Formats: sequence, C-alpha cells, structure tokens
Amino acid sequence: MITNKQFAKLLLNWNNTQNDRHMPWKGEKNPYFIWLSEIILQQTRVEQGLPYFLNFKQKYPTVKHLADAPEDEVMKLWQGLGYYSRARNLHETAKNIQANYNGSFPSAFDGLKKLKGVGDYTAAAIASFAFGEKKAVVDGNVIRVLARVFGIDLAADTTEGKKKFAVLAQQLIDEKAPGPYNQAIMDFGAVVCSPQNPLCDACPFQKFCIAYQQNQIEELPLKKKKTKIQERYFNYLVIKNKKEIFIRKRTDSDIWKNLYELPMFETAKPLKKNIKEAIAIYLGNTDFEISGYSEGPVQLLTHRKIHAQFIEIEPQSFKKCKLKEAQKVKLSQLDDFAFPKTVHLYLKLKNLV
Ligand code: ADE
Repeated sequence: MITNKQFAKLLLNWNNTQNDRHMPWKGEKNPYFIWLSEIILQQTRVEQGLPYFLNFKQKYPTVKHLADAPEDEVMKLWQGLGYYSRARNLHETAKNIQANYNGSFPSAFDGLKKLKGVGDYTAAAIASFAFGEKKAVVDGNVIRVLARVFGIDLAADTTEGKKKFAVLAQQLIDEKAPGPYNQAIMDFGAVVCSPQNPLCDACPFQKFCIAYQQNQIEELPLKKKKTKIQERYFNYLVIKNKKEIFIRKRTDSDIWKNLYELPMFETAKPLKKNIKEAIAIYLGNTDFEISGYSEGPVQLLTHRKIHAQFIEIEPQSFKKCKLKEAQKVKLSQLDDFAFPKTVHLYLKLKNLV
C-alpha cells in the first residue's frame, strides 16, 4: 500500500512535470478572487464557469464593488449558471465582509467557514490557496482519486463515507505545499483519474491503485443514492402589448429565488384542458383571449424536471389585466432582468431579449 508521503510526492511530481491545465485562478493569492472562482465552480464545469469568473472579476474587481452592486445586477451576471442561491449568498457575503470585516476575508479556515455559502470545501480552498493553511479540499475529484487509489467502497454522501474521505484527505495533504497539493489533486482527478475512461496507463499511482489492481475502476467511487426527480408544471402567461410586458420577481424560498419570470401559475399535472378557465381564476378576470401556445424545452435540474408552457394573451387584453404580484416593464428594458433558462430561451426565441 502506498504511504501518505509517497502519495503526496507522486502527486506533486505529476503536477510539476505533466500537469498543463491552465486556469486563470491558478496560483491566485487574493482570497476574494479565489472565493469567487470556487463559488462559481461549485456544481459547475470549469469550461462553463470560466467566462462567468472573468466577467465577475472584471465587473467587480474588489469585494467592495460586489458589495455595492444592486442585487438584480448580480443575478443578471449569474444568469444561466444555475443554482442561484450561490449568487444570493455571494452577494450577501460580500456585503457582510464589507460591513463587518473591514473589506478583508478572514485568513483562516475556521473564520472562513462562518461566511454564508462557504462550507468545508470552499473554506479549505481559500485557506490553502491564499494563506497556505494545511487544510485538504474534498470535492468530487478528490473523492474519485482517493476511492480508487485506496479502494474505498463507501458512498461519499453517507456519514461514514464523508468522514472517511475527509480524514484520509487530511492525512495525505503535503505539509509544505498545501495549496499546490490541493490544486494538483483536483486537476489530477479531472485530467487523469477522470470519471469515464481514466488515463490509467499514464497514471503515477497505477502500481498502487487498488481499483486498478482489482479491476474496479468503473465501480469506484460508489455512486450516490439517486434522489427522486420531482416533476413540476409551470404555466407562464405572456401578457404584453407593443411596448410593455408583465413580469414578476420570484421571492418565495423555492427554486430561482430573486430571478424574474413571466406571470405564472403552477399545476400538479400538465395543463392541457380548460386552460382559459384556469387562467381566469389566476387573473381574477375573464376578459381576455388566448392568442397562442408554445411549449418550452423541459429543463432538468438536480432534483426536478420543469415543464413550462407559454400561453400568449392577445395584446388587446393587456390593459384590462391587473396583476397584483407582477409589474409592467418596457420591452426595451426586458433584457436587464435575470431570467431562468426556460424563460430566457422563450424570450429569445420571440426576439424579446
Ligand atoms: N473545481 C473547483 N475548484 C477547482 C479548482 N480550483 N481547480 C480545478 N477544478 C476545480
């Protein structure tokens, strides 16, 4: 079995001689930029997150710039990245750091963890990259590498598995170079010990790797338990005339909180019959005509499938529609608001954004 020292040495050697993965936050020492990149990269592929990181960095070069920004602007910059609670927490934490920490990030793991949206992973990443603290990151890449090399057949979403991976990761981290070590193991998991078709023939751990020796590369890491997917049916109303359109802000603690959308009511099943009656109940008014329908693409989220249909209301009905929880905005300003992907796609298709 490989020793802890050997593991770190082989990993850092791979990093120094073979790792050619370039990313703009690599070697970054500014905790604000590290935090920004790590929040963006949670649940997001590097290629997808990269342009968002560059846009945020350019628009908000300091934590103060982000703290002072209007929330709608931050949400707009986040549009399309998903998991919008990350954007809300990002903004809230920036304001907190500005107001209560004199604009500077805490410089150790324990202090960082007190920040909203910063869990073990992100605190370890900032503490090790910015401040050289010896705290191991444990993300999907790390779990895959450790599960295979050490033959750990525990699922990472169980209490036992979580603990095992955290303890082992902390035992393995290099004393002298915790930041480069953390970055290297994530890169190694992404580039060599990848989920599908890992490059075992080029792997410095091949002769130690339990999964390789026991032909278990495909089985490890153990898959997480599948959560049931919830189906939801959103019926959007397109109520507009030549100049204006109704939109509403999602304020409930539900998906897409603080994003905008079209006026909408949800049904437990697809709404195919008696559509006009259902809309009349929602609007509290029967004085309108439907002029068209359009089905949105099904949007697959982590635990949900969103089925959206867009019901277009005749422009003549516009002035008769009064919607308590919606606001009228100029069509020329519609693109200033952040919309969930399904709504944004529809608006784009209709040349409205
Ligand atoms: N995924 C999340 N953070 C990362 C990082 N710093 N490097 C590579 N992949 C990552």
